[in-house]
Amino acid sequence: MSEVDKRESGVAAAGDWTYASAPESRDIVRIAERYGHFVGGRWLEATETYETISPRDEEPLAAVGQASAAEVESAVAAARAAFADGWSSLPGSERAKYLFRIARILQERSREFAVLESLNGGKPIKESRDVDLPLAAAHFFYYAGWADKLEYAFPNRTPRPIGVAGQIIPWNFPLLMLAWKVAPALACGNTVVLKPAETTPLTALLFCDVLRQAELPDGVVNIVTGDGRTGAALVESDGVDKIAFTGSTEVGKAIQRQLAGTGKKLTLELGGKAANIVFDDAALDQAVEGIVNGIYFNQGHVCCAGSRLFVQESIYEPLVAKLKRRLTTLRVGDPLDKNTDVGAINSAMQLDKIRELVASGEEEGAEIYQPPCVLPEKGYWFAPTVFTNVAQSYRIAQEEIFGPVLSVLTFRTPDEAVEKANNTPYGLSAGVWTEKGSRILWMAQRLRAGVVWANTFNRFDPSSPFGGYKESGFGREGGRHGLEPYLRFDE
Ligand code: NAI
Ligand code: MG
Repeated sequence: MSEVDKRESGVAAAGDWTYASAPESRDIVRIAERYGHFVGGRWLEATETYETISPRDEEPLAAVGQASAAEVESAVAAARAAFADGWSSLPGSERAKYLFRIARILQERSREFAVLESLNGGKPIKESRDVDLPLAAAHFFYYAGWADKLEYAFPNRTPRPIGVAGQIIPWNFPLLMLAWKVAPALACGNTVVLKPAETTPLTALLFCDVLRQAELPDGVVNIVTGDGRTGAALVESDGVDKIAFTGSTEVGKAIQRQLAGTGKKLTLELGGKAANIVFDDAALDQAVEGIVNGIYFNQGHVCCAGSRLFVQESIYEPLVAKLKRRLTTLRVGDPLDKNTDVGAINSAMQLDKIRELVASGEEEGAEIYQPPCVLPEKGYWFAPTVFTNVAQSYRIAQEEIFGPVLSVLTFRTPDEAVEKANNTPYGLSAGVWTEKGSRILWMAQRLRAGVVWANTFNRFDPSSPFGGYKESGFGREGGRHGLEPYLRFDE
């Protein structure tokens, strides 16, 4: 029976029920052949370029600039000039108008941005459409609201902008991380030089068009593209007053060393190895949805992913059985298909890292489960994976995999759960699943994690501060707390 016949007869043959493909059209997106750097409100021709590709099929999408130290300096100079030239002394209510405009334009153009995000980064369109874009707009709306209320946010203190913020972001939520960084910086009266990740520059470059549409004064936001060398040049620039970085712990540490003694402000949002803890009184089906959302959302390319699952021993078997069954229903494939749950791995480099860590898990003695799924031949793919029989010492229980790979461990008592959950160099997020409100609060007090979700996971809101402990970094983004790193106080 053809797909059409099946639909017309109204009955699917038992056992072979499948989703027809539902591709989102990419016609809405226009990608230039070649991009420069966005400096002082103009496109600066790039002296050197590299190719950005689509991870779903390795299709080249555009030539993008690899900014040199000199190009970074010109962006910093443009930001300095814009800061001195009026942006920092503009009344907050005026700054708010620009932020509201940007938020509204992002909403209006959200389909275009969502398609481009999925094309360049590999995440399912369902997620870029329903999570990344609405949250990015929400961040601009939220910080627009604070721009003229900074004195109320910090009563009896005099908040002032810092100057030029250098912002370096990763590839897992390209536009959303841009919003997390740019919105509070502008709300507080700073100007910005932002560097997107090398594998996902396209939505940041399209965002320059939004800035023009919003008539943001030239030089208030400058965007330079390139890899780690460009990032390092931005960190080093004397004209930068603050660095905000989201990425690997390794690079975060290098930046901290580089900045020691310079007086530049710094916030770091780094890796994680979150514990998702399920007690025996939890609603199991709901917990399974939370576990799946916790680790397979965005292919597990999430710093706060629930990558270590702790299950109370008495429910271990039914929970793992339910989880494996649920995994067989995940649809892995084309990021632009509206039915896709798990898209492409962001880069060949990241795929290698996932493969290497998964191989180490098998070697160390963990038991691997992957649901049957046909992966596309071209592009970068990895099947959703669950490891059971995992010991705390295994690399898959210690290191950030940043892929669709879950390690399952067990515990008997709440004390044991806390001890095991905190047994990590990271401390970004955690999840607790239980019917008991008092136990949620008891756990939340003891878990060393910046965010603790209860009976849910991977929920974000611009009004809620986000950030880590220990090797997950310091400083908070989001909420009123997220204003502070962009202000100085003359007391
Ligand atoms: P990365 O930390 O190298 O890249 C993040 C950003 O930092 C990119 O924009 C990159 O160009 C820039 N960068 C790289 N070296 C730099 C330097 N020396 N100075 C200034 N900026 C620099 O992360 P990468 O290599 O893409 O991924 C490696 C691992 O890091 C991942 O497998 C994952 O475990 C973790 N990671 C964590 C993220 C998070 O959200 N916490 C995001 C991305 C990666
Ligand atoms: Mg790196």
